Formats: sequence, C-alpha cells, structure tokens
Amino acid sequence: MFETLRPHITTILETNKQIDIKLQEVCNLLKEKIDHYDWVGFYFKNGEKEELKLGPYAGVPTDHTIIPFGKGICGQVAESNQNFVVPDVQAQDNYIACSITVKSEIVVPLFVNGKNMGQIDIDSNTLDPFTEDDERFLEFVNEQVAKIL
Ligand code: SME
Repeated sequence: MFETLRPHITTILETNKQIDIKLQEVCNLLKEKIDHYDWVGFYFKNGEKEELKLGPYAGVPTDHTIIPFGKGICGQVAESNQNFVVPDVQAQDNYIACSITVKSEIVVPLFVNGKNMGQIDIDSNTLDPFTEDDERFLEFVNEQVAKIL
C-alpha cells in the first residue's frame, strides 16, 4: 500500500499549484487511502516563535491550531527532532486531545536543510496500528514536501 502511494505523493507535489493546495491534496490522499489514518495534518514552525501553527489537514477541525514547543506530542517532536509513535494516547501524560475518538498517534518531523521546520501528524481511531513502515513512509512524504518549501 505504502509503495503504491509514493508515486502519487510525488505527482501531487510536482504540479504547479500553490503549496497549501498540494499539501491539502497529500492530506486528503493519506486519509482516504490508509485505513488507520483518521486525521492527517501538517504543523509548521510559526515564524521565529517557539510554537507550531496548523497548516493543511484532513479530518475533523481541531481547536489546537497553535501548539507551544514542548506541549503535547507535537510540541515534544518540535524539540526532540525524533519520530514519536504513540500506540495508546491514554498512556501519555503530555498529550493534547483533539477528539475523543483518537486512540493512537504518530508524529514525524519535517527537516528543511537539516532544520526541524514542522511535522506531519497522524491520529488514528485504532489502538497500536503504526509500524516502522508508517515511519519510513511518512519520512518519505516529508522529504518530498521539504523539496517544495
Ligand atoms: N494530539 C496532538 C495535538 C494535535 S491533534 O492530534 C490534531 C498532541 O498531543 O500534540
């Protein structure tokens, strides 16, 4: 599944549309095609501030459009520069709930010229669904996105 999606990602990002439209199409594609992806969004560093700002996303709207560095899974990834796989969100102390249906989450940082400029965030309504294949695939997505930023 992930292998067949890779060329679709590349094709979307190669078009001449605006960046936010391309990122929206990527979010829509992932949410639609991957069963255990129920909310898919990009957060980006908000200028010079130590906070993340929500970019394009697919899924239910969230109140958490600004997340300070260090807060929640997303804010921790902004500081750690590491993938964060959460098999069960209820087991996390530093977690920001966006929807009561969410059971698990994966956040993968997005590097531009070696700098952590944002992340892709996936919420799942399934418990413990993520494997290393998700990590490798989302790293690929972010590497492709970094090329157009
Ligand atoms: N759960 C995230 C907040 C973002 S929502 O999932 C859209 C967190 O703990 O950082």
